[in-house]
Amino acid sequence: MKNIQLDYTYILDFVKEKDILKMQSKVSEVHKVIEDRTGIGNDFLGWLDLPSRVTMSEMDKINKVADEIRKNSDILVVIGIGGSYLGAKSVIDALSHSFHNNLLHKTPQIYFAGQNMSAKYYEDLKEVLMNKRVSVNVISKSGTTTEPALGLRYLRDLMSQNISKEQVRQRIIATTDKAKGSLKTMADKEGYTQFVIPDDIGGRYSVLTPVGLLPIATAGIHIGELLQGARDMEKLLKNPDLKSNPAYMYATIRNLMYANGKAIEILTNFDPSLHYISEWWKQLYGESEGKENKSIYPASVDYSTDLHSMGQWVQQGTRNIYETFLWVEKSRGNALVPSLEEDMDGFNFLAGKSFDYVNRKAYEGVTLAHHDGNVPNMTVTLPELNAYYLGQLIYFFEKACAMSGYLLRVNPFDQPGVEAYKTNMFALLGKKGYEEKSRELNAILAKTERKVV
Ligand code: PA5
Repeated sequence: MKNIQLDYTYILDFVKEKDILKMQSKVSEVHKVIEDRTGIGNDFLGWLDLPSRVTMSEMDKINKVADEIRKNSDILVVIGIGGSYLGAKSVIDALSHSFHNNLLHKTPQIYFAGQNMSAKYYEDLKEVLMNKRVSVNVISKSGTTTEPALGLRYLRDLMSQNISKEQVRQRIIATTDKAKGSLKTMADKEGYTQFVIPDDIGGRYSVLTPVGLLPIATAGIHIGELLQGARDMEKLLKNPDLKSNPAYMYATIRNLMYANGKAIEILTNFDPSLHYISEWWKQLYGESEGKENKSIYPASVDYSTDLHSMGQWVQQGTRNIYETFLWVEKSRGNALVPSLEEDMDGFNFLAGKSFDYVNRKAYEGVTLAHHDGNVPNMTVTLPELNAYYLGQLIYFFEKACAMSGYLLRVNPFDQPGVEAYKTNMFALLGKKGYEEKSRELNAILAKTERKVV
C-alpha cells in the first residue's frame, strides 16, 4: 500500500538540504515532548493516538445513527462552526459527487448552518428545507457558542412548525461535551441522541471523533477506511527521522521558510472538491500557530481557477511566500477533450486526452514557473482521493501542526485570541454580565469620529 508523500525538490534552491537535516536533533527533542505528552497544551493531545483507540462499538453506534438518518431524511443539516464543521465539510466535499445536493441519491442532501449569522442564508435555507424530511446534527464542544446555538434555535423552530414535538426530538442529534455546556443541558432535557466530544481533543483536531464521523458516515463515506488511513499514518509518524517522516519534514521546512522571511504559505489544489480541505487546513494552522505576534499566514487558492486571478500575484508579487501543492495521483474522472471538425479554437492537439491529463500538465508547469519566479514549493501527493488517503492526510497535517507549533514555540492547542470578538459582541448585544464592557464600548463608538468618503 502506498502512502501520501512530500516532494520538496523545489525547496532546495532556497534552503539547503544540510540545513534541513541540521534540525534533526531539535525535531527529535520535540517529538519526545509530543509523544511523552510533556509539552505546553499537553491536555489536548487526545487526537495523537485517537485513530488506534477508536473502538468497533463507537463506530457501530455512529454507523447505526447515520443509517437511521439516511433512511428517514431527505436532508441532514449539520450545525457547527470552526472545528465543529470544517472537518466534516472538507471530507464530504472531497469524496462526494461534485453536485451531490442537486441530485437524487441514496444519501440525504447535506447542508451546513451555525457557521455564519447571515439572515439571508437562514431564509434561503428555510426555503430549501420546505416540505422535506429534515434531521439535524448540532455540534458544539463548549455547547455555548453563539452561532450554532442560534442555528439550532432557528432549525428547531422551523421543524416545530411542521412536525410534532416528539418528532423534532427524534430528529435532532447533539454532539457535545460529556457533562458541561448549555447544549448538553438541552440535549439531556429534550432526550436527544448524543455523541461525546472527548475532553482532550480541541475543535480543529476533532474530525476523527463523532464531530466529523457522524456527518461523514451519513454522506455514505466509509469511516472505517478513513480511520484506517489515519491509523497507518499514526504508525508511520512515530519515527522522528526526518528522512522518513513526511510530516516532520513538512513542519521543519515551514519553520525554515519562516526564518527566511517567507511569512505566507499558500496551499493549492487542482480539484474544486478539495477547496474545503484547504479551509480545514487554514483553521488548523491559523488557530494553532497564529499567536504571540508571530507565525506563518496560511492562505489557499484553487488551481487552475485561481491561476487566472491570484496566479499573477504568486508569480510576480511580493516574494514573502512559499507554496504547498496538494496533488492527487490517480484520476477520478474520465471526461475527455472532444475533437472539433475544423479545429476552430486550435485545441485539437488535445483531442482524446483526459481533462486530468491537461490538469497534470498545468500542475507540472506551475511548479516550475513558480520556482523560477522565486516561490519555493513542495507537493503533498495523495496516491488516490478516497477515504483511506484522506485519513492519512488529516493525521499527517495534524501531527505536522503539533511539531510546527512547538518548533515555533507556541502552544498549538489553545486559541485565546478568539475570545476578544465574543466579549465585544456580547457587550454590544447587551448580554447579562457584560454591562461595564457595554458602557465602555458604546462610549468609544459614540465618540469615534468616522472618516468616510
Ligand atoms: O478549533 C476550535 O477550538 C474552534 O474553532 C471551535 O471548534 C469553534 O470555535 C467552535 O467551538 P464549539 O465547538 O465549542 O462550538
